[in-house]
Amino acid sequence: MTDYSYETIEVQLVDPGVAVLTLNRPDKLNAVNLKMMMELREAFRALDDDQRAKVIVLKGAGRAFCAGADLHWSAELGVEGRVESNRLGQKTFNAMEQMETPIIAAVHGYCLGGGLEFALAADFILCSANAQLGLPEITLSADPPVRPKITEDGDPDQPEFGGQAPGWGGPKRLPERVGKAHAMQMILTGERVPAERALRIGLANEVYEDDAFEESVMAMADRIAHMNRYNLRLNKELLQAGYDMLEPHPR
Ligand code: COA
Repeated sequence: MTDYSYETIEVQLVDPGVAVLTLNRPDKLNAVNLKMMMELREAFRALDDDQRAKVIVLKGAGRAFCAGADLHWSAELGVEGRVESNRLGQKTFNAMEQMETPIIAAVHGYCLGGGLEFALAADFILCSANAQLGLPEITLSADPPVRPKITEDGDPDQPEFGGQAPGWGGPKRLPERVGKAHAMQMILTGERVPAERALRIGLANEVYEDDAFEESVMAMADRIAHMNRYNLRLNKELLQAGYDMLEPHPR
């Protein structure tokens, strides 16, 4: 049986078949560093083969879901390293999308940059009322006061933080979810979209009050975990591939 023991994430299996995967670098608002990306790859591979996991819930520890790629990781990388880290994120998130197990992103607080790209690779997003979602990459090379204070010391014309465009699938998945015009507005302004607006544009499926959030997310996951495993897989595949019907499992 898989032992889900990691440094930067936590995986907890809850009856009757909910796997809760928590990003666990709360001091850094769960920013994704190389270690976390590698652990996510490993955990998703293992969870998709784990008969105990019928649905996966993604969440963040502390006050945010995820503030994006760890900017200290990208600052260390040269041009080639950045290309590789973009490819690594894309490979990981594409693999999530291809998984048989359904994935729900449970978003509270900040969900920015790579954090939103991670949530978009899940099958759908549920938000807490305090959630703020955005792709602020373009602001990393913007003029003050739009530029985040964490990157303030750098040179906007040589953005060592990789502040050009979202690199982990955002420009593909965001317009698929919200349409091209809303995606364009979000990406060009780098603005943070509050939960209620995310709901209106179809980025979030539901918004729950902060104090009912966890319970509401788990209630939905619990309902899904009561479904027949083969039929969960069948239905996810039908939607992903745009098929009308596949041969049902004999059971
Ligand atoms: N990478 C690395 N560290 C990050 C981070 C990131 N993307 N986002 C936040 N952190 C760290 C901060 O450096 C800080 O660490 P420290 O206490 O050791 O200094 C800690 O998380 C808390 O962040 P802080 O900025 O103090 O919180 P805040 O509430 O004032 O602001 C944000 C929160 C999210 C608005 C701000 O942190 C921010 O703009 N982060 C960058 C977001 C971003 O551009 N992401 C896209 C990257 S592709």
